[in-house]
Amino acid sequence: MTTVGVLGGTGPAGRGVAIRLASAGYDVILGSRDELRAGVTAAALVPRGPGVVRGATNEVAADCDLVIVATPYDSAVATVKALKSALAGKIVISMVNALAKEGREMVPLYPARGSMAAQLAFALPESTIVGAFHHLPASDMEDLDSDLDADVVIFSDDAPARDVVAALVNEMPGLRAIIAGSMSLASAIEAFTAVCISVNIRHKAHSYVKLAGLPE
Ligand SMILES: NC(=O)c1ccc[n+]([C@@H]2O[C@H](COP(=O)([O-])OP(=O)(O)OC[C@H]3O[C@@H](n4cnc5c(N)ncnc54)[C@H](OP(=O)(O)O)[C@@H]3O)[C@@H](O)[C@H]2O)c1
Repeated sequence: MTTVGVLGGTGPAGRGVAIRLASAGYDVILGSRDELRAGVTAAALVPRGPGVVRGATNEVAADCDLVIVATPYDSAVATVKALKSALAGKIVISMVNALAKEGREMVPLYPARGSMAAQLAFALPESTIVGAFHHLPASDMEDLDSDLDADVVIFSDDAPARDVVAALVNEMPGLRAIIAGSMSLASAIEAFTAVCISVNIRHKAHSYVKLAGLPE
């Protein structure tokens, strides 16, 4: 079974993805700069399924078969650069959004290469970057009793890697994978997260993305 590492896994985004991956049967390493914090955080996550979540350093998480980047946008590039050799030859999923809060709204920021996924791809030329999980409300992800029924929009320039990530997402409870296309969509997909969060702030809601009209 594939092992999955989450860099910056102690935050809400990483925890939510980790518990649903473990509920799907994956062994997940919750990575952190602080091994103790990772252990305490992982111990509080109780998946419903055969998988487990363990806490460790980001270095240990980067040794997993597949790795998810779940740090804030302004530390994502430095975090992966330090782990470049461990991440070489692997699929690295970016769920990183570059956003800023302005009043009651989130606004998208535009990183130098147009998207955080493109920045990670530039920093990790020997890895395969796939974008996924950007629009998910972390609190509903972490709460396995929430009625989450969300779509995960996936993009990458590598079609087989997109398929691997889509298969993984479809195993996670409450999620459906939608392959959108190539890395050229990264900027729009990441920026749309600002719309999702702004809607949730304005309407005091936990809405999520669900695309209508697709064949089953
Ligand atoms: N929250 C959501 O609903 C959500 C949903 C989808 C996508 N995302 C995206 O997922 C990413 C993480 O979101 P989050 O809300 O979980 O963020 P967060 O809580 O601010 O940060 C996640 C983790 O990153 C690590 N971290 C913080 N500063 C760091 C630094 N300077 N260098 C290295 N690691 C650092 C911390 O772990 P340690 O201190 O343990 O190392 C922290 O627990 C963001 O890019 C966000 O846009 C979030």
